[in-house]
Order: sequence, then C-alpha cells, then structure tokens
Amino acid sequence: MRPGVQLQPVLDAIGEQVDARFDRLLAVPDDPRARLYEAMRHAIIGGGKRMRPLLVVASCDLFHVDRERAMRVALAIEAVHVYSLVHDDLPCMDDDDLRRGKPTVHRAFDEATAVLTGDALFAIAFELIADEATHEDPFVRAELALELARASGPAGMAGGQAMDLAAEGACFDLATTTRLQQLKTGALIGFSCEAGAIMGKVPQPLRMKLRGYARDLGLAFQIADDLLDVEGDAAAAGKALRKDEARGKSTFVSLLGVERARAQAEMLIDQAIHHLQGFGAEADLLRGIARFAIERDH
Ligand code: IPE
Ligand code: IPE
Ligand code: MG
Ligand code: MG
Ligand code: MG
Repeated sequence: MRPGVQLQPVLDAIGEQVDARFDRLLAVPDDPRARLYEAMRHAIIGGGKRMRPLLVVASCDLFHVDRERAMRVALAIEAVHVYSLVHDDLPCMDDDDLRRGKPTVHRAFDEATAVLTGDALFAIAFELIADEATHEDPFVRAELALELARASGPAGMAGGQAMDLAAEGACFDLATTTRLQQLKTGALIGFSCEAGAIMGKVPQPLRMKLRGYARDLGLAFQIADDLLDVEGDAAAAGKALRKDEARGKSTFVSLLGVERARAQAEMLIDQAIHHLQGFGAEADLLRGIARFAIERDH
C-alpha cells in the first residue's frame, strides 16, 4: 500500500476475514451454553476497526509469514481486545450502554454473561496461539503466549485499567498519564506489532524497530481516543462520548488541552514512521495504519 491510500477498505477486508473466522469458531452449541456463545458473537462479530488484527497481518507480511498463521494471531489479539472492551463497559467500570454501534454485552444480555464473555474470549486467545496450526516451532508459540500474557496482565492492559480507575478524581501528571496509556492501550498494540517479528524469528534489531513504532503508535492512538471523547461524533464512534471529563479522568487532553494534545499525537506518528526507516515499500501498510490512527473519526 502506498502512503496516502485510503486505509478503510483494507480494514474492511480484514474485518470480513475476522468475522468469517469467528463465525466458524463460535458456532452456537445446542445446549445451555448457547447464551454465552451468543454473547461472544454479539461482542466480537460485526464492528470495530480491527486495527490490531491489521497490525498483526502487516507486521507478519514484513517477514513473509504465512497469512493463515498470521490470522490466528490476529484473532487472538482481537479476542483479548474485545474481552477488555466488554469488561471496560461493565457498570463497575465505565458503565456504558453502547459499543461498536450496538448495545454493550451486559445491556443486550446480563452482567454475569458479560463477565463470562470476557473470560471466555481471553481463554480462546491462548487456545488459538498454543495450537500447532499457529507455528510449527513450540518455542515460537510459547513466546507468543508469554508476550500476550505480559501485554494483557498487571504489567499491561489490566494494570493500565487499574491506573485508569485510580485516575478518576486523582491529579496524575504527564509522566504518570503516559505510563497509564502505555499499559492500558499501548501494550496490546505493542504485541500486535511485535507478533510478526516473533512469528518470523527475526533478529533483535528488526524487532526493536517494531517496538519503537508500536510505542509511539500506541500513545498517539490513545490520544486520538481521548480527542474523540472531547470533540468526536458519537454516531460515527459507535459509543458514548464526553465521558472522560465528567469522570475526572487524567488524559493528555485534560493535561495539555486539545491543540497541544493533537500536536503531540502528530509528532508521535511522525516518530513512529521514522522507526520504520530501513524498511521499503513492504512497510507502507504500517505507515498507513500510523496515519489512520490519528486521522480517524471512530
Ligand atoms: C477502543 O479501542 C479502546 C481503546 C483502547 C482506546 P478501538 O478504538 O480500537 O476500538 P474498536 O476495536 O475499533 O471497537
Ligand atoms: C479502554 O479505554 C481501554 C481498554 C479496554 C483496555 P477507554 O475506556 O478509554 O475506551 P472507550 O473510550 O470506552 O472505548
Ligand atoms: Mg475505560
Ligand atoms: Mg470505556
Ligand atoms: Mg476512551
């Protein structure tokens, strides 16, 4: 993909592939677990930008990883991401009614089912990765599982969510807010970008380039989310907005103001793209994703 080419059609294509695979994976059984499967399907099929799956595929393409294998890791990271959204929307966390333009899982079903939906999606992610179909080398599978666990746990997404709860009413400074965002959002984006390097068994210097790219992209992506919360259109976003200020959350926007936050996001994206120096046209998709991360309206 050349820079400047519209990313939305590429995201739509990945979205269709992700939907088709989860449709097969989550066939509803004819027994009392049907409601759980229905809720998982409601959460994960149809909707969402699918940016993390696309990052996995784009990073795997850099190193010529087989597409079917890459898609298994793409499904795994989307499952962890959607689990985090289902729990994030619960009344005990952000208490939201709308997600991806649909009622949240606890609204469409019930709270207990939403908790179990998250649990089950999290488990499915590791089932996908640990299966031999993902990679013939067990060390590669173990490394994928290790990194995904790290990115999801207390030193990653879950830790960031805990900091986010603590941010309500507290006055976090810029350094603490940066750390919060790196964990809450950056860690799963980091895994998505490094997955290609793990699958392709590439040398450490190449992996470090992707890590640098992911670090800046993740931060910029969350700044864009915070900007959308302040000035976005709820219909386009498919979720309730104007919630962060009401809850007294420390975000880049609350700390820097809209203009400086946007400038910071743009600077981070330039920096992210700079990390890809040394790669040729094969990294254009990653460059396109970086631009999209801050130009999006949803
Ligand atoms: C929303 O993520 C939650 C954050 C980490 C900011 P996305 O903006 O990627 O949500 P979907 O996947 O498109 O619904
Ligand atoms: C959610 O962050 C991040 C995770 C689920 C890990 P937000 O609470 O800002 O996401 P939205 O705005 O509800 O999508
Ligand atoms: Mg939240
Ligand atoms: Mg939320
Ligand atoms: Mg938000």
